[in-house]
Amino acid sequence: MAKQRTQFLCGQCGAVQPKWMGKCPDCGAWDALEQFVEAKVAAGAVNLGAETAPGATAVAEPLGQVQAARVPRLPTGVPEFDRVLGGGFVPGSAVLLGGDPGIGKSTLLLQALAALADAGTPVLYASSEESAHQVRLRAERLHGAELPARNERLWVLSETNLARLLEQARRVQPAVLVVDSIQLVHRVDVDAVPGSASQLRRCALDLVAFAKTSGCVVVIVGHVTKDGVLAGPRLLEHLVDVVLSFEGDRHHAHRGVRAIKNRFGSTFEVGLFEMTGGGLQQVDESTLAADPSLAPRPGSVAVPALAGSRCLLAEVQALTATGILGGAKRKASGLDGNRLAMLLAVLEQHAGLRLADQDVYASAAGGVKLHEPGTDLAVALAVAGARMGRTLPPAFAAVGEVGLTGQLRPCAHLEQRIAAAARRGVRLLAVPAGQANARVSGTKIELCPVDHLSRAIEFLQPARPQTGVKNAPRPKQSTN
Ligand code: TYD
Ligand code: MG
Repeated sequence: MAKQRTQFLCGQCGAVQPKWMGKCPDCGAWDALEQFVEAKVAAGAVNLGAETAPGATAVAEPLGQVQAARVPRLPTGVPEFDRVLGGGFVPGSAVLLGGDPGIGKSTLLLQALAALADAGTPVLYASSEESAHQVRLRAERLHGAELPARNERLWVLSETNLARLLEQARRVQPAVLVVDSIQLVHRVDVDAVPGSASQLRRCALDLVAFAKTSGCVVVIVGHVTKDGVLAGPRLLEHLVDVVLSFEGDRHHAHRGVRAIKNRFGSTFEVGLFEMTGGGLQQVDESTLAADPSLAPRPGSVAVPALAGSRCLLAEVQALTATGILGGAKRKASGLDGNRLAMLLAVLEQHAGLRLADQDVYASAAGGVKLHEPGTDLAVALAVAGARMGRTLPPAFAAVGEVGLTGQLRPCAHLEQRIAAAARRGVRLLAVPAGQANARVSGTKIELCPVDHLSRAIEFLQPARPQTGVKNAPRPKQSTN
């Protein structure tokens, strides 16, 4: 009989410790270690990472002689999802889809499975949270009551016991198995509640082993709590081949699926979706874009920003309001808060803008996330425009990274950004001085090279008074 040993597993980072400690020495989390008993497995009995069958002897060989096998793909039929996966599922791989509860994980996977079933692929949706009846109701909501072709190949199972779940998977032999969610699945021989670190790890290991041995794609769904402690997908990240994160605000229609880790593709891609009454719809990126033909407004700047392999003309908005000196608020939504704080300091020090007593709110319009340094100049100009009550010229956009000295630094993929801006009707584009020679043939865009943030601010012009504002009561001048 296999020998058992007691270890302690960190619920935060997944590190295994030989004895209990109050603080995890690997990630520093307090009170996160949890006891678990693991059966000692003979060395070599489990071969999770290799493509070869368990127990087969591997022989070292020079890299040049290794056959470069083409990775076969199984497209899901949801192009935005395929884009993130790198062209579709890879048979025999394990995929973890994490995200806040209620973001749309089950909906997305059921839509992908229905599309696969339509294409003739047998798929199994194992739900540990909902009954088969509830899954059927959701499918009807998504696709209507007429699902005859899918019903044949789209198998549904409501089960929380992992052994029984895998038994059904072996019986049905699906090309894709979805386990939604791992938090409620359990192994009876593990003495811990479902969702605990030891259950999650053991169940995930079994599912990954099933994927490798059967060639079936296993998609594991995991919920993420705000602090990421209880849900534990972090714990599973290193066990699987692909980690996807479903991001977005539950109260906002637009959501994005992003790859955090992908052994078979890039992690730059983002799949864009919108939650509608009939499920998740793929989003045409042009609906998210800023419209440069609108009259310029203070605090609004267009920026050609990168999102994976595509570039979209996004809009950055900022608002400043009188705050408390020393306690002014700074809020960023869809932008990096630390980067915003840095840009405010640069505006104070190198562009002569007083912001210490101003509350500053900055956001990326339309629910998009702009976390790349190329958007720095646009954020700084939006804040400066809002503070000074000035606007940029019509059909103007700005791109460039701002350094701590206020100098503008070159940004990546400028040609792609110029093309995207021109396509959306931008006529003037402020770019870092070092990239003034960038040209894209066939575009009529004029580049305005800028070397320093203080120069870029000179593009801001006094705003023309708008109707209604003229007669508004003037704010009282402060006396202190
Ligand atoms: P769900 O996919 O169950 O989220 P998760 O599996 O990530 O917890 O559903 C997310 C939300 O979307 C849910 O609150 C209901 C809503 N929804 C729609 O708005 N339209 C739809 O067609 C469906 C199926 C769900
Ligand atoms: Mg769900």
